[in-house]
Amino acid sequence: MTQRLHNVAEAGSPEARDLTSLLHPNTNLLAHERTGPMVMESARGVTVRDRHGREYIEAMGGLWCTSLGYGDEEVAEAAAASIRRMSYGHLFGSKSHEPAIALAEQLKAMVPVEDGRVFFGCSGSDANDTQIKLVRYYFNAIGKPAKKKFISRWKGYHGVTVASGSLTGLPPFHTHFDLPMEGVHHVGAPHYRRFAEEGESETAFVDRLGEELEQTILREGPDTVAAFIAEPVQGAGGVIVPPATYFARVQAILAKYEVLFIADEVITGFGRTGQPFGCDTFGIVPTTMSLAKALSSAYLPISAVVVPAWMVEPIVEASGDVGVFGHGFTYSGHPVCADVALKVLEIYERRNLFAHAASLAEGFQARLRSFEGHPIVAEARGVGLIGAIELEAEPANKLPFDPKVGIGAYCAKRCEAHGLIVRPLGDSLAFCPPLVITETELEQVFERFALALDDTLAHVRSEGLVAA
Ligand SMILES: Cc1ncc(COP(=O)(O)O)c(C=O)c1O
Repeated sequence: MTQRLHNVAEAGSPEARDLTSLLHPNTNLLAHERTGPMVMESARGVTVRDRHGREYIEAMGGLWCTSLGYGDEEVAEAAAASIRRMSYGHLFGSKSHEPAIALAEQLKAMVPVEDGRVFFGCSGSDANDTQIKLVRYYFNAIGKPAKKKFISRWKGYHGVTVASGSLTGLPPFHTHFDLPMEGVHHVGAPHYRRFAEEGESETAFVDRLGEELEQTILREGPDTVAAFIAEPVQGAGGVIVPPATYFARVQAILAKYEVLFIADEVITGFGRTGQPFGCDTFGIVPTTMSLAKALSSAYLPISAVVVPAWMVEPIVEASGDVGVFGHGFTYSGHPVCADVALKVLEIYERRNLFAHAASLAEGFQARLRSFEGHPIVAEARGVGLIGAIELEAEPANKLPFDPKVGIGAYCAKRCEAHGLIVRPLGDSLAFCPPLVITETELEQVFERFALALDDTLAHVRSEGLVAA
């Protein structure tokens, strides 16, 4: 270990201190010991700057979250004023405060959940844990204690806690963690290009996925299946946009077997897909929703679960019998986080940012797709202001690169060399720029990406990873 550190970082530098003090989330820890960290120092608008003064356009919005861009003075002022007014308040034992009430009202008015009640948390993961707990509580309360199983999808990402990590359908989030937990079942991802069988039409592909979902419910027993959870667009799984008829098919099956629909809008919420919510874009009528990330544009951590009143009523009754509704975090509805979220939502509205993002979407999607035809680009996909470009060794034959080569990670590094941050998800490069980005900045994103892509092509050719 010491030897490895020696190679990458000067003693006493932030890089060396990182290596001896931090355990990084979602990182190849072994590779990290060899390469060291990229230490960031400041950020403004859509640009972040590392400690050496190099600037990058943050085309991933951090982790799909900095929709308002960085360093907004109004948000900073709102946070400071909130801290001065009441730096902490909680919602336990009937305590309440104006910021949490106002934010709950605002969310209720925005989301497509009828007469919602809002439960606040700190992260997308805890929001989805709360979803599981509320669904369990609800079915126990209405006398259906067997209805406890959850169906999620491969390639879905719903967080990393024991429960939300179980819903996640990506193997690295299960391996060595002994997940998924019992009672969580995964069905196929709606990625047509990747998972369609030879010669299968998109309609037949959707039919097959529908059949798989229905058979899973029947196999487990409809009386035991409580809820289905889905991101309208699977984000961390590779920005997978489902075929247009997919969610209608899914919803018809769920309705038939009285299975609830949990919409995980942690990425797709707040204007990302060209409409206020992914549910609007894909015609989803969710039972409940999880929100986080752009809710506060990541200025402070806050998440929200919105549940319809008809689910809350039996929960209220049952909690009376127990003596307390035994769920909640110290920071549920933290007033400073709530005030910041309120300010962010107000700015989205005042600056018309959902409409701005929607107006950029067509050009953004066209530009992404302009890379199709490049020798190692397999597919460009996306909706609104989210997208991905997937690399393959032989796109015409759907032949991927050997995953061990890490070509996506290589391309992302080349992007950094050209002043651009995107995120490698396997060999897909994800784009999720702040909604405030301008047309000119978007063009810079793609100019820089084009350079990185050509570097990557030169690399794979020189390494003999593709036919010359
Ligand atoms: C769709 C979705 N759900 C849940 C989560 C988990 O959120 P957090 O990392 O805040 O726990 C994420 C995080 O990327 C996400 O993309």
